[in-house]
Amino acid sequence: MVLRRPDFDARAATYDDLRPQDDNWWELFELVSREADLRGQRVLDVGCGTGRLVAALAPESSVWGIDSSAEMLAMARKRVPANVKLKLARAEDPPLKDSWFDRVVYWLVVHLLDRPAAFRAARRLLAPGGRACVVTFDSTYFSDFWLNQYFPRFEAIDRARFSTAGELENELREAGFGQVRLVRHHQRDRIDRETALAKIAGRHISTFDLLDDAEYEQGRILAERNLPAQVDYEIHWLVAIAER
Ligand SMILES: C[S@@+](CC[C@H](N)C(=O)[O-])C[C@H]1O[C@@H](n2cnc3c(N)ncnc32)[C@H](O)[C@@H]1O
Repeated sequence: MVLRRPDFDARAATYDDLRPQDDNWWELFELVSREADLRGQRVLDVGCGTGRLVAALAPESSVWGIDSSAEMLAMARKRVPANVKLKLARAEDPPLKDSWFDRVVYWLVVHLLDRPAAFRAARRLLAPGGRACVVTFDSTYFSDFWLNQYFPRFEAIDRARFSTAGELENELREAGFGQVRLVRHHQRDRIDRETALAKIAGRHISTFDLLDDAEYEQGRILAERNLPAQVDYEIHWLVAIAER
């Protein structure tokens, strides 16, 4: 089996079509903004991708975004207003000033990082009284993920790279953070068969990059054969807010 690293340059052009910024996204955005008190703050979005969070915060906050994918950043540049500063940089060693930020946010990115290094960097970048905010999947999400039946290794792959709530809390504490507050949030979604097949064909999530070609092809054929007209599924979010 060939193990690869997720390639976000390759999915940049289709990212926003295959993972749309829909009503669920905006609902979660409101929750995260409120719980982590993002509005009006100096915010760094680590792994900012195509720039949806920085663009949403820009009218009310001073925002910076970093990402290690040049292609994702190119998509972000097209979207964000001129006052957002974007930089090609890694979460583990961001070339940014110590104590400069009030908030450091990771939205669906910590499963891709060397977390101890990234969290130590976040603590360095935060001013006294600052907060790190991690938005990720709660591990319950992986049990019933709608693609598990077609790609049987998905659950194990994601359980291995996503921290549980307890592990995440420990990782933040070990990086020097004080109090860590955990918030869970549950959403439902429904997609039609055509959308589901487009997501599979476009390998819309990085878990696909960790399958070998034969596994991917088998799953794709199985899904083509068996996917119902509509797919209903649940999303279980975990938001961690850590005090510097
Ligand atoms: C799943 S996407 C999430 C993007 C965005 N936060 C969102 O929610 O739409 C993960 C992003 O993290 C970036 N990334 C992966 N490893 C990284 C690293 N070591 N440092 C910075 N960014 C990284 C990827 O390039 C990609 O843009």
